[in-house]
Amino acid sequence: MKILLIGRDGQVAWELRRSLACLGKVIALDRRSAPVLDLTDPDSIRTAIRQVQPQLIVNAAAYTAVDKAEQESDLAWRINAVAPGIMAEEALTVGAGLIHYSTDYVFPGDGETPYRESHPTGPQNAYGRSKLAGEQAIQQTGVHHFILRTAWVYGRRGQNFLLTMLRLMRERELLRIVDDQRGAPTWSRLIAEATALMVARSGENGRFEPGDRQGIYHLTCGGQTSWYGFACRIRDYSHENGLLPESAARLEPIPSSDYPTPASRPAFSVLSNEKLFQHFGLQLPAWDQALELCLSD
Ligand SMILES: NC(=O)c1ccc[n+]([C@@H]2O[C@H](COP(=O)([O-])OP(=O)(O)OC[C@H]3O[C@@H](n4cnc5c(N)ncnc54)[C@H](OP(=O)(O)O)[C@@H]3O)[C@@H](O)[C@H]2O)c1
Repeated sequence: MKILLIGRDGQVAWELRRSLACLGKVIALDRRSAPVLDLTDPDSIRTAIRQVQPQLIVNAAAYTAVDKAEQESDLAWRINAVAPGIMAEEALTVGAGLIHYSTDYVFPGDGETPYRESHPTGPQNAYGRSKLAGEQAIQQTGVHHFILRTAWVYGRRGQNFLLTMLRLMRERELLRIVDDQRGAPTWSRLIAEATALMVARSGENGRFEPGDRQGIYHLTCGGQTSWYGFACRIRDYSHENGLLPESAARLEPIPSSDYPTPASRPAFSVLSNEKLFQHFGLQLPAWDQALELCLSD
């Protein structure tokens, strides 16, 4: 199978370059590759897909700066809403399937039980609106697809909460962390590995044929916590294993109202992963187990 991976060095793309490698030839393109693939330039998307002629396109690139998206909503829209629709149209033209990632921020966040795929959406910020429009653009084309909604992504590379905390815990005496937003921190490597397993179970002889299992899936680690809870586990595990000095910052829980941000975030964005288990027998570990695996790596 020839797989066009859109994105090379993002958190999830980096891991996908490894996890997808057993499934066929992976051609990873980004803004610096040849051919160039710039999601703000529809022609570069079309040209790259026609040139590569993949059986499967995996789009791990996106505009992910949630707060900046409030100011740059046009740019976020072009990358997150328009570009996925163009990929889907081109995928149909060359006979490829499409796997795309979306977010827990498509939900309003006013619930108390984990959101299922069928729950009505209602994004609270420009990033969430752009990602929801990207999902819809793909679905409207009728391309064979998986849309994988994930959440609170971290890993050993890139910009993420884990790496920011490890740095700040060394630099500061006290960190005040939001304790009234709940979600499931999810390790980028597990997203990539689950994606590869879904592909492996969706076709034979190098073809991507999801059949009636195509559609939207939630793909996050199990359980739930707050940003404060996530930070505490990072600090405790790192202390216990000598990754942080004794002098590392103390942590204090605060409400979101004490940490205003340009983009409002859902208070509760835990996703139910039941559909993924029912259709593919796949289940990511609990968020704290995954964090330990990542930190011990
Ligand atoms: N991060 C999270 O917490 C989170 C949560 C929920 C869902 N998601 C979704 O998960 C997916 C993967 O996210 P991630 O955390 O791996 O993202 P990331 O680490 O922020 O990487 C984003 C990638 O997109 C690329 N990109 C941005 N603008 C581009 C453009 N105009 N043309 C081509 N490439 C462009 C960037 O490339 P450059 O290297 O050129 O900048 C970067 O490699 C995304 O769909 C995201 O919406 C993420």
